[in-house]
Amino acid sequence: MHERFNFNSPEEIREKTKSLGLTLEFSGDLSPLRQEVRIRHKNAPNSFAVLPMEGCDSGPDGSPSELVRRRYKRLAAGAYGLVWWEACAVIGEGRANELQMMLTEKNLRQFTALVTETKTLCRNSFGHEPVYVLQLTHSGRYSRPEGCRPRPLVPQHDPILDPRTGVTAATIPVSDDYLESLVPVYAASALLAREAGFDGVDIKACHRYLLSELLASHTREGKYGGSYENRTRLLLNIIKEVRRVCGDDFITACRFNVFDAHPYPYGFGQDKTDFLKFAPAEPERLVLDLCAAGVDLLSNSAGNPYYIYPQVTRPFDSSSMGIPIPEEHPLESIERLFGFTGLVQKTAGSVPVVGNGYSWLRQFIPQAGAANLAAKRCSFVGLGRSSFAYPDLPADVFKTGAAKKEKCCIACSKCTQIMRDHGRTGCVIRDSEVYAPIYKEARHGAEEGETA
Ligand SMILES: Cc1cc2nc3c(=O)[nH]c(=O)nc-3n(C[C@H](O)[C@H](O)[C@H](O)COP(=O)(O)O)c2cc1C
Ligand code: SF4
Repeated sequence: MHERFNFNSPEEIREKTKSLGLTLEFSGDLSPLRQEVRIRHKNAPNSFAVLPMEGCDSGPDGSPSELVRRRYKRLAAGAYGLVWWEACAVIGEGRANELQMMLTEKNLRQFTALVTETKTLCRNSFGHEPVYVLQLTHSGRYSRPEGCRPRPLVPQHDPILDPRTGVTAATIPVSDDYLESLVPVYAASALLAREAGFDGVDIKACHRYLLSELLASHTREGKYGGSYENRTRLLLNIIKEVRRVCGDDFITACRFNVFDAHPYPYGFGQDKTDFLKFAPAEPERLVLDLCAAGVDLLSNSAGNPYYIYPQVTRPFDSSSMGIPIPEEHPLESIERLFGFTGLVQKTAGSVPVVGNGYSWLRQFIPQAGAANLAAKRCSFVGLGRSSFAYPDLPADVFKTGAAKKEKCCIACSKCTQIMRDHGRTGCVIRDSEVYAPIYKEARHGAEEGETA
């Protein structure tokens, strides 16, 4: 059933979707992409968004390196309405890699300079500023703050993930006191982000990092595990605290996993007997609770990019090493992601939701995005891998009415492979001068490590 992308028009894709019994739509009227979107007190000038895409390439202290500065300057030339900045650790021990972005009092000046410079670039080129949201994270089970060594901080044991993440029977799950101590830590990071010139922060709860795994901590004891109220308590408390300390003119966002595709009692959002089947009751309830807690912007994601079903997060043509080719067609994976966004948008009402899962559709992203916007199945068309491969896609669409096939992401998973090999990542295909040598070096290092 899996197939590589081989379509020359939206009509050809539509035929395929019909034969698969899917309902994906494409629209030739691209005007919805120009729609402004109100997020709390700010107007995003159009409906294209950059999804958070981490480069694993900050300075050792978390500050923006030359590669980080280059990435956000390229995005500033893209004319996006919303730039959702990559995962930024709130605390050293929660960094996913030793070069993960981290905003501190010591490097605040460097962040402020980059935010100012890139917003100014955008204003000078397009006459508007994008809305900037910084994703705040604690990597939990996937923490690797020094070198490549796992230093997992887990909310519960998980028989499937423990052996893959350096967790042993002797590992003690993080205490309630530790979890509670993170509330002011997130709030302090949010205040710093505000000082640096960001318009808001995202309290990240996706992809099975700490707050995401906590949503699924059915087997944890105490006030952060077991019942729905307990599993969502920390996320909601952090959001309320950020809202309280940052005030009314600051956006509080949340990117969360609607569906983990991971067996009960270790996953969130799936059927208790069939872990590949979505169960909407808890995700819908969470959307309502997030909105009641004061969230202004949402982005849904799904799956665990580190496990063996990465198509649930990002549909692809080729997989990274050791990952099986899925049985489902990439269009089925895309329809699932679009369906999640539609459900979250319907439930969230006037709170805008950023859609994802577009990159596999290449030059037909604008037509798919316009159809979803027109049907109110999302408020933003979010671009992940495409923002690495083709950072100025929106600018091209606004200028020429089309995305250029030869600049598009080809969903080859090489940027993911670099991450898995512990390198600094970007697009190996469309930005090959910079990233092909990094890819080779990281692969070489990983192969040497495997044979050592
Ligand atoms: C190399 C890489 C880095 C990513 N970094 C982040 C991140 O920092 N935060 C996040 O929420 N998602 C991250 N993602 C997921 C993307 O934001 C996005 O959800 C996913 O790639 C699907 O969108 P796409 O089809 O447009 O690529 C990353 C994905 C890749 C491939
Ligand atoms: S390496 Fe480039 S082309 Fe390949 S998946 Fe990543 S962004 Fe897309």
